[in-house]
Parts: sequence; C-alpha cells; structure tokens
Amino acid sequence: MREPLALENNQKIVLIDGGKMDTVYLRVNSENPDETSLKKAAELIRKGELVVFPTETVYGLGANSFDETAIMKVFEAKGRPQDNPLIIHISNMEMLKEVVSQDVGSFSALMNLVWPGPVTLIFDKNKEIPNSVTAGLKSVAVRFPSHPVAQELIRLSGVPIAAPSANLSGRPSPTMEEHVIEDMDERVSCIILSGPTVFGLESTIIDLSRGRPSLLRPGPIDPDQLKGVLPDLHVPEFVSGRKEYLGDPMSPGLKYRHYSPDIPLILVEGETGMVVAKVGILAGRKKSLVLCSEEMKDYYPVQVKKVVLGSRDNLLEVASNLFKELRNKENKEYSQIIAEPFPETGVGLAIMNRLRKAAWKIERA
Ligand code: TXA
Ligand code: MG
Repeated sequence: MREPLALENNQKIVLIDGGKMDTVYLRVNSENPDETSLKKAAELIRKGELVVFPTETVYGLGANSFDETAIMKVFEAKGRPQDNPLIIHISNMEMLKEVVSQDVGSFSALMNLVWPGPVTLIFDKNKEIPNSVTAGLKSVAVRFPSHPVAQELIRLSGVPIAAPSANLSGRPSPTMEEHVIEDMDERVSCIILSGPTVFGLESTIIDLSRGRPSLLRPGPIDPDQLKGVLPDLHVPEFVSGRKEYLGDPMSPGLKYRHYSPDIPLILVEGETGMVVAKVGILAGRKKSLVLCSEEMKDYYPVQVKKVVLGSRDNLLEVASNLFKELRNKENKEYSQIIAEPFPETGVGLAIMNRLRKAAWKIERA
C-alpha cells in the first residue's frame, strides 16, 4: 500500500492500487509522431490502461472515457478527490457527438476559432459518458488539443480520452518530461515523452452549459480574443484566483488546493516600488528565492537568488516557465519562494490565477 496522500482539506486519499506497476516509456517526436509507438499506447488505452501523453498545455493522464474501471484508476493514480471531474479529449468534431448531448451549432464560430487548441468547453453531457468522468455533473468538459501526439493517440485509440493533468493531486501540473516521470512512474502503464509542453499552463475553460457563457479557468487564451465570437462572455471574480472569491461551486476543482511547490510560496502584490521594498524585507528574513521578471530582477537585493520567468512584455514566456520553476528540485535549498506580481492582461490573468492559488500567503505591499 502506498503512503496516503494528505490533501489540504485534511481528507486523506489512500491509493488502493496496492503494488507498483511497470511503466513502459515511449519517446515520441512531438512534431512528427511515430505511429508504431503510438499504436502501442493506443492499444493500452483500449485495454483500459492509463497512458500519460503530452498536450500543448500540460501533460495529461489519459484513459478511455467510456471505461468506468479505467476512469477509477485515473482518480487512484493521481490521488484525486472523486468529486473533481475530468476533461474529455477528442481528435475530430465527429467525436464531440459521442460526448455531448447539447446542440452545439450556435457555438461553431467559437469552436472554429479555438479548436484544436488550449481551450476546454463545457456542454451538456451525453448519457454514454460514465458519471464518474463528470463527478455526477450533467455537464461535461471537452477539449480538442492541437498537439500532434495527443491527436494521433486519440485517433488511434478510436475513443475520446478522459485526462486530468498528469500530476499527483495538489502539485503543479507537469510541463516537462521529468515532472511526469517523478509523479507517474509505476502508477501508469505507459508514459509518452515528447519534450516540454508549449504553453505550460492548463487550458482556458469556458462553461457553455448554463445560459450565459462563463469563464471558469483562465488559461493560454486571452478572454478578450474571444469577444468577437462570444460577446457576452462572463468573467467571474473567482477567475482572479484571489482567495476571497474561491469556493464557487461552478467548477468543483476550484475548491482544492493547487500547484503547491515543495516550500512555501509568498506572493507580494501591490505597486511596483512597494513590491520591491517588501520583497527585500521578506527576503532578508529567510533564505529566499525570488521568482521575477527580467525587467525587475536587478531591483532586488544582490545576495538573494533570482529566478527569471521571462519578460513582462512576453507573458507567454512567463507562463511557460512558471510550473517548471515551481517544481524545480533546487527550490529545496531555500526556505521560501517569493513571487512578484505580473500584469493581469492576456495570459497574465492565468499567471496571476495560478500564482494566487499556489501561494501559501499573499502579502500586500
Ligand atoms: O490543459 C488542460 O486542461 C489539461 C490537459 C491534460 O488537457 N487538463 C487539466 O485537467 O488541466 P484537470 O483535471 O487538471 O483540470 C480540469 C478542471 C478541473 O478544475 C475540473 O473541476 C474542471 O476542469 N471541470 C471538469 N469538468 C467540469 C464540468 N463539467 N464543470 C465544471 N468544471 C469542470
Ligand atoms: Mg490539474
């Protein structure tokens, strides 16, 4: 029996897989995937096994969406609470019909714009999809990824693939090969390694199942980019990730602690000059690592370790490095991580959402 995983809400999840399993590793070119390798992985999906695969956002932990036993294995392998539903991944628009029951015609402009890509859409669920996938909800989250390996794996499997991010519950999502090896080795039948993911943050989630379309999770796509095809898109307060707005029941995943690095993370928010001063004070108290932008790095004390996420003018770069740095093994040499805030424009909304949710404490400067 594996060690129980402690969750934030003191709920203990006991992983009942008992023994370890041999994990088959397949290295597959991310642009031009080898079909012979992916056929092996697809065969495992069809047999009800778990396969970790890359997507353009983060790595996913995949299972046949129609196989209830395989779905249970996903929750066990991650230590994921069973009231947190999974996203179903499709590789063509025909597959969407197997997953949803809603008439999606009025959303074709939106789907044409964002699919394939880093956006998940929530529709009314088709009754063929087991309740365990959607945690009993009447709606289902669907994504058509653009990553060639993901597309080919789904196509060869011949079934929509249900997949949460391939991290142990509560940890930052995996964006690099070493992350999935660390979290999923001996927990799944197969891990497909295809290098780092492109965006490094999970997909943007939009709920289309409850009247007015609503953003549930900010991601790589700027909500403003969707205004043309979704003029009445509602952006709720909780999307900021500020603790006072969390706990909204619209998306079950919102109430769980996420993205926790191995050491405490303190996010400092406020006006730039004040942030610099506050970071300096906090960094003077404990051995600290400061997560910052290229533009700001020289303003912090020289003796403090600075890790540059990217330029404030290139927030996609910052996003793609965030989880990598939150999971960096070298962080353990420090007592705390201090993060500076980023502009909440474009993908900056998602960066701040993840930073606030990862933060052990938010300090106002
Ligand atoms: O980029 C991504 O979205 C990655 C890759 C692998 O596709 N997947 C991912 O899955 O991030 P996961 O399970 O880590 O996050 C899915 C989120 C959860 O917060 C869950 O609560 C929410 O989607 N969700 C799933 N189905 C839902 C539904 N029917 N209604 C509301 N929220 C839902
Ligand atoms: Mg996740």
